Amino acid sequence: ESAEKGGYAHFTIKEIYEQPKALKDTMTSRIIPGEKIRLDDIHISKDMLTNYSRIYIVACGTAYHAGLIGKVAIENLARIPVEVDVASEFRYRNPIIDHKTLLITISQSGETADTLAVLRESQTKGARVIAITNVVGSSIAREADDVFYTWAGPEIGVASTKAYLTMLVAVYSIALHFAELLGTEETSYLEEIKKEMLTLPEKVAKILKDTTKIEHFADKIHGEKDVFYLGRGLDYQIAVEASLKLKELSYIHSEAYPGGELKHGSIALIEEGISVITSLTQRELFEKMQSNIKEVVSRGAKVMAITYEDNKDVEKYSDEVIYIPNTMDIIAPILAVVPTQLLAYYVSLYKGLDVDKPRNLAKSVTVE
Ligand code: G6P
Repeated sequence: ESAEKGGYAHFTIKEIYEQPKALKDTMTSRIIPGEKIRLDDIHISKDMLTNYSRIYIVACGTAYHAGLIGKVAIENLARIPVEVDVASEFRYRNPIIDHKTLLITISQSGETADTLAVLRESQTKGARVIAITNVVGSSIAREADDVFYTWAGPEIGVASTKAYLTMLVAVYSIALHFAELLGTEETSYLEEIKKEMLTLPEKVAKILKDTTKIEHFADKIHGEKDVFYLGRGLDYQIAVEASLKLKELSYIHSEAYPGGELKHGSIALIEEGISVITSLTQRELFEKMQSNIKEVVSRGAKVMAITYEDNKDVEKYSDEVIYIPNTMDIIAPILAVVPTQLLAYYVSLYKGLDVDKPRNLAKSVTVE
């Protein structure tokens, strides 16, 4: 087993460090500057796409969190309304499904029972299904009409890291593809996104180069009972995934809140010494988020913020700032999530927990 870990202490950290390669492998051959996105295993024409009256993205766990970002990407770029749901809820809420429904399922393993059941039931009712999965030949891959394989390689750590990043590449690629089919965005803007996406492997590698500050913050918070994650826009979707990662790996109770919702309840829980983790990558929302951070700081919270390297202002009101390379806001989640994975990993280490196999969790939930 130690040979398989390639010199790393755990699979989880090895997989976090494999992310630049996983991203690159998932993009190569699909994203080529100057050319339309190539999704060879997705056979959806412009006419078909125009005829769908709704798109659902359905998944579980971390894959569901990739779906939340997929919704924003598809709605922004292709201007098609998208609903996202967890498979175990979607199944039992009698959703509207017919031949005008396009379902996108996301599953690392391709074997999650609830997700597979949604796929089957939707197909029976006439929906077309695109599967995003990391496992070639998995049940979900075999049964879907169209497939997007993420090339993250085998993921052993129970908490998903590199597979999540490649799922993000998948949802962005599909959003770009739909936008190209429908002509909803200027070609030059779509080109800019594609070019920028190709720089992300290097940018993730840069984040992974120096983890000292993150380790330091992990040491500070590892004894805590509750942690809050805050964000606005795509930073909220990151907060949700970051919070899950901390729960899974460190057993610390954590909650993710949209910045604007603070005042509708959770601010009552902010007291002296509580840790709040946030990311600021959505430039239009910086100011709003800043005032949310000030609200929690004035109540005694310790804040760790993740932001672009040129946004030095954040230092004025945060205890710890983790810088990530500048990028386009729409794809920033691919960078912003990385420090939160590292944080969850190091907190788990400080607590002496079983990072690769957290208690009570399974890599893939194949029974309901
Ligand atoms: C389990 C794993 C999670 C994963 C979820 C969905 O709960 O512990 O890490 O996100 O299943 O798995 P899937 O294989 O469908 O992506």
